[in-house]
Amino acid sequence: MIQITDREFTELVEFMQKNYGINLINKRQLIEGRMSNILDKKGMKTFSEYIALIKKNNMEEITTLINKLTTNHTFFYREDNHYKFLKDVILPEQEKNNKTKIMNIWSAGCSSGEEPYTTAMSIDDYFGLKKSQWSAKILATDISQNVLSKAAEATYQEDSIKNLPPTWKTKYLKKIDGGKYQIVPQIKNEVQFKIFNLMQPMPIAYKNKFHLIFCRNVMIYFNQKTKNDLINRLYEVIQPGGYLFIGHSETVQRDQSNFKYICPAIYQKV
Ligand SMILES: C[S@@+](CC[C@H](N)C(=O)[O-])C[C@H]1O[C@@H](n2cnc3c(N)ncnc32)[C@H](O)[C@@H]1O
Repeated sequence: MIQITDREFTELVEFMQKNYGINLINKRQLIEGRMSNILDKKGMKTFSEYIALIKKNNMEEITTLINKLTTNHTFFYREDNHYKFLKDVILPEQEKNNKTKIMNIWSAGCSSGEEPYTTAMSIDDYFGLKKSQWSAKILATDISQNVLSKAAEATYQEDSIKNLPPTWKTKYLKKIDGGKYQIVPQIKNEVQFKIFNLMQPMPIAYKNKFHLIFCRNVMIYFNQKTKNDLINRLYEVIQPGGYLFIGHSETVQRDQSNFKYICPAIYQKV
């Protein structure tokens, strides 16, 4: 195994923190354990050579590093109270108040697509035949091209769909070869995937503010300051009255943001 020196470790931690928000301070052993192989394959003998490559902002290398050290784990209908809140509160509010019938939703840190596709299914199921009167596109972004390619493919194993209501499995998925399931076009076409680093200025921000942002289980690797900054930048791109969903193991520090706490993992811009 290739050892990382103190200097190399500090350099890597600072670079990843500054540019990608990811806090690797407690991951020294994980870095050596998971990255040595990658360095070996590249014929590198030290982490300095690898860090030089990373510092060229080579996105392929950086996403390999992020993928090795963090998790992309996700599944359909994860944290179901968010989808219940969408159905019971947000969509009825939209139906009553949104005369434009245009809804902007962002799944930030969408991984392989299960989260935005579940959202598209929730909206389709709620509106039924009236859905055709609405434009409810979902922007879904992630830093990893690898997961975005899986998302665009839109085929999933049985295990990841097990929490979906049975009627949705019939309506929105088609069984294909190899025991896999394919998302039907009616849902797939509602989601647009794009690569995007949440540490970058938000280019999508000021044209169309969002009625709802999912940023769930993404901030787990960020330090407190990075989390607070991100939450405040998300606040800026949400419409007044719009909502933010975060993961149930995550928190918004109440004195650090203007969001109103609604219930666990749900906040509103008032
Ligand atoms: C654990 S997954 C969460 C997926 C989904 N939101 C959910 O809750 O099931 C976290 C995702 O955040 C992405 N991510 C981590 N840091 C990011 C950053 N700086 N910008 C954009 N995406 C990031 C990872 O690539 C990963 O796919």
